[in-house]
Amino acid sequence: MKTSVQQALDAIQREKNEPICAYIYDLAGIQEQVRGMLQTMPRNTKLFYAIKANPDPRIIEALLPLVKGFEVASIGELLKVRAVSHEVPILFGGPGKKESELKLAIEHNVSYIHVESLLELRRIIAIVKKRQQPEARVLLRINLRSNTLPQTKIVMGGGPSPFGIDEEAVEEAIELIRVEGAGAVRLCGFHFHSLSNNMDARLHAEMIDLYLQKVERWQQQHNLQVDVVNAGGGFGVTYDGSPGFDWSLFTALLQQSEARKRLAAHGGELFFESGRLLVADHGYYAAEVTDIKRSHGQMFAILRGGTHHLRLPASWGHNHPFHIVYTDRWKHEFTRPEVRGERVHIVGELCTPKDRMHSDAEIDCLRVGDVIVFEKSGAYAWTISHHDFLGHPHPAFHYLMEGDEHVNVNATFQSANC
Ligand SMILES: Cc1ncc(COP(=O)(O)O)c(C=O)c1O
Repeated sequence: MKTSVQQALDAIQREKNEPICAYIYDLAGIQEQVRGMLQTMPRNTKLFYAIKANPDPRIIEALLPLVKGFEVASIGELLKVRAVSHEVPILFGGPGKKESELKLAIEHNVSYIHVESLLELRRIIAIVKKRQQPEARVLLRINLRSNTLPQTKIVMGGGPSPFGIDEEAVEEAIELIRVEGAGAVRLCGFHFHSLSNNMDARLHAEMIDLYLQKVERWQQQHNLQVDVVNAGGGFGVTYDGSPGFDWSLFTALLQQSEARKRLAAHGGELFFESGRLLVADHGYYAAEVTDIKRSHGQMFAILRGGTHHLRLPASWGHNHPFHIVYTDRWKHEFTRPEVRGERVHIVGELCTPKDRMHSDAEIDCLRVGDVIVFEKSGAYAWTISHHDFLGHPHPAFHYLMEGDEHVNVNATFQSANC
């Protein structure tokens, strides 16, 4: 029964006459951007893709030849990467890892496990010893005691947090590895991911210098060989038209960083595991306007789609950037509803007032049947959304590849004037 309902919904969506609702991923754009980013990175720095930003297999495939590897935060994510490549390096992170997950991660030969707590460390040691497996390579994820970290919308370190091991417990963790973990766990370095969506390249570079200086201190205090410092992701993207993260400035500062040069001199590598910056700008969510109406003096445009497909504006409480594609999709005898020169709330098809994509948008012209194309919908968009709430059909997914006309979403639909 469940299958037939799903099949019926899929069939409805395939019907040509159904309103447009689709994600469009510009794979060529993602590749071009990453190629550009790699060009300015210092030699001992490596770029990984944190697939939580968008785990679409086509995106993983597109990035496979470019990035050093992938960061995953669950076995589900790990299997998505392994479905694309058996060999590509994987960093396995995330809080609250279960024993079964740790076992599977080891079986799937992840390159490094990010250890988030002392208990997790004990679990790994016990698993490896019991199964008499080769040493597990780990990076200790550290939550620094610092009020100098940049402040962003999403903060994961520098204060109380469920992520990582407090800086005060570094010594205990190292001792645990030395005493109980000998032969079972190899400490290869440290991991930090203290924030997301940071826009300030200079502060980001300073934060990484701070990480590297802390690591140097632990290295000297405990006589450690540090192969890797993973400085996480967190490179920001703006949704309001203001300037985003300046990657060129950031990598220029990294080139000059004495701490990075010292790491390189000891043979150490600096990893980044970026999600948002790699994919956000290359995803588009297109949703057709299915109704326009005035309610108590305010105008509403209702979409085939909404926050169950693109939850980011509801999650962050922002107005999501968009443009309108005008279409001739109107076949009825009766009047086509429209709005001209007014402010409009652009909302979704869900029975909740929280299903709002943009409030008070200034609209020159919009009609039922036109398509709203939400930009910057490549990261933390579909993947963080409550897809099945209310059972509306999922959107279609389209991919633009090298050789396709560069993303001109307008060309995807029949264009018309308003
Ligand atoms: C541990 C870790 N690494 C990397 C990322 C990717 O962050 P971003 O998409 O901000 O680059 C996240 C995001 O939450 C994360 O938790």
